[in-house]
Amino acid sequence: MAKSKKAKRLDELAAQIRVCTLCPLHESRTLAVPGDGKYTAKIMIIGEAPGKEEDETGHPFVGSAGRYLDHVLEGTGLDRSDLFITNTVKCRPPKNRTPKRLEVDTCTSNYLFEQIELLNPKLVVLLGSVAAKKVLGVKSVNEARGHIIMHEGRKFLVGYHPAVRFYREDLGAKVKEDFALLKREAKKL
Ligand code: URA
Repeated sequence: MAKSKKAKRLDELAAQIRVCTLCPLHESRTLAVPGDGKYTAKIMIIGEAPGKEEDETGHPFVGSAGRYLDHVLEGTGLDRSDLFITNTVKCRPPKNRTPKRLEVDTCTSNYLFEQIELLNPKLVVLLGSVAAKKVLGVKSVNEARGHIIMHEGRKFLVGYHPAVRFYREDLGAKVKEDFALLKREAKKL
């Protein structure tokens, strides 16, 4: 079947991301990470930024945070093949530092917001404060999590980033709660 215009544009964006030099992060990256998954997915997951293994492979959430993401997804009945997974920023920040405002603004205005429009998912899951703050303008994950937020005619769900569990063990239970909410909402789509 011929590729739709939207799929072609998503491919084109991915190709642009791979050679992007619009912000300083390109200088230290190995591979940019445009995102993986079905262009027809009803659910899109957006994390923060690639880590070491993502930078080495060019794929999102393949390191330790990704393995934990797979683990919590298991409980939802959803599988990666049902989703489109990407990040707010497509290149790894040095030493996994938090991406800077210029990096976030450049990457979202050139790539992420268009990816969301083209994929047109029914539900967007924002994992961590970088994604939640940029996409919804919320103050914190804690304030925004636990319920569906309608924004520009689309459903959003904010959750703790799966990696939070590696330095705040107490938040592991909250990550599980966030994915339990995802499970309930996914059933309604
Ligand atoms: N953390 C993220 O936010 N994204 C990845 O792809 C990996 C770790």
